[in-house]
Amino acid sequence: MIVTIDGPSGSGKTTIARDVAAALHFAYLDTGALYRAIAYTFLSQSIDYSDEKAVEQALKSIILKIQSVNSHPHYFVNNTDVTEHIRTQEVAGVASIISAYPKVRAFLLPVQRNFAANNNIVCEGRDMGTTVFPEAKSKFFLTARPEVRAQRRFQELQPTDLTLKQLQQEIDERDRRDRSRLHSPLKQPEEAIVIDTSHLSIQEVVNTVLNIVRGPHWEHFAHQADIGIRGIGRTIEEAFEQAAVALTAVITPPDQVQAKKEISFSCEAPDREMLLVEWLNRIIFEMQTSNMLFSCFHVSVHDHTLSATISGEKVDIKKHQPGVEIKAATYNSLAVHCQENLYTAQCVVDV
Ligand code: DC
Repeated sequence: MIVTIDGPSGSGKTTIARDVAAALHFAYLDTGALYRAIAYTFLSQSIDYSDEKAVEQALKSIILKIQSVNSHPHYFVNNTDVTEHIRTQEVAGVASIISAYPKVRAFLLPVQRNFAANNNIVCEGRDMGTTVFPEAKSKFFLTARPEVRAQRRFQELQPTDLTLKQLQQEIDERDRRDRSRLHSPLKQPEEAIVIDTSHLSIQEVVNTVLNIVRGPHWEHFAHQADIGIRGIGRTIEEAFEQAAVALTAVITPPDQVQAKKEISFSCEAPDREMLLVEWLNRIIFEMQTSNMLFSCFHVSVHDHTLSATISGEKVDIKKHQPGVEIKAATYNSLAVHCQENLYTAQCVVDV
């Protein structure tokens, strides 16, 4: 599986991509580092990087490799580890210039694709979702207000002789170049999920990306003596369905419950939180009256009405080994909300 994260510098791509990769146990590919590694090599060899032909010629004698050193990616040019030298603003500026040359992009294309072959990866750059991995299923585009991005870079570069204003100008110039170049410009892939990171913490962005990559899912969370259930999905329906699976999981593993018999019903409530209570209560009512457990939930929500079909089977004590005998439940800390196109329906249950 390939997760692509594109965006301008200072949007948070690198940190987010690295943390998301670690959480998913995926490999991580920082493609800006590849352009930087080449840029650094040209700088150190005094190659005139403004001369496209000279750059094309110099590329012929470059062998670029990514190798893991102490579990960190390191970049080797002709067997020399350049990783420590590529983070300067000078290298970044040259990387931005040479990245406009089609031969440089063509040179790096197989390096990036080979890295992804047989690997689950999270990759970040400018053209991951548009050019390098257009077939990727999960694409993100991170943005942030220009002054926020400049401030982040300023902090990263400390100590530095640059003023915040100079840095802002350099970033603006680099953005302009990256967006306006002819080949693989920085562009939001049409199907990408856009996240403005200006006001979000790293953890908030990482959680949003992870939740979207994982698709609809449920979680339990600890809340004093009680258990919290949470459903997460791209629609309110998915969030409610997953919250119901989380409820079943309080009693037995949902994959132990076969969808043998269907029950349909609808319920109403004045707001989304109360609708969640109605929905979960109705499932508990059906569990009790039919002596069943449910694992399959289909919901549609219109205004304040929820229509549902739930499927399950009779409780089999040996097979299901129910953790609790459900009689009734009380709910608190109710929350149903939508953030960055992701719905969460959660509450704390006492059964
Ligand atoms: O993300 P970064 O700042 O390390 O990238 C350095 C430069 O490399 C950036 O200004 C543009 C270029 N780049 C690119 O053109 N395509 C990529 N996929 C990644 C980086």
